[in-house]
Amino acid sequence: GAPVEVDISEVQPGQLIVVAWRGKPTWVLRRTPDMLASLKKVDPYLLDPESKQDQQPNYIKGETRSIKPDYLVLIGVCTHLGCSPGFRPEHPAPEIDPHWQGGFYCPCHGSKFDLSGRVFKGVPAPLNLVVPPYHFDGEMKVVVG
Ligand code: FES
Repeated sequence: GAPVEVDISEVQPGQLIVVAWRGKPTWVLRRTPDMLASLKKVDPYLLDPESKQDQQPNYIKGETRSIKPDYLVLIGVCTHLGCSPGFRPEHPAPEIDPHWQGGFYCPCHGSKFDLSGRVFKGVPAPLNLVVPPYHFDGEMKVVVG
């Protein structure tokens, strides 16, 4: 499939936008400083906090899993059986998880992911959400693919 250009000039802090790439929902989340600070807090509850299991672009390193920490780009497809998780930025949310700091919750079988798409322990999904190949074209455009 062709690369998809995403204009991010109107995306507000804390806002998630959805585009289609190769027929899949693909997310761009502009993370706030609070969202970024929350990532460390959930490390102990994650299956693979450093994304060691993933086949990911090699520029995706560390807990932010992104080129620019503010902008998270993910394929919005659960790594269990392919449902699309919902964006659940609110926290605390003990009905989701006692350690919830915001993230993505898959309604199909209850898999939980943090604000970098890293999967929690003890859920059906075996892997973190996938970061697609992407790059920035200037400050205000993300090109996925
Ligand atoms: Fe997401 Fe099963 S498809 S938890």
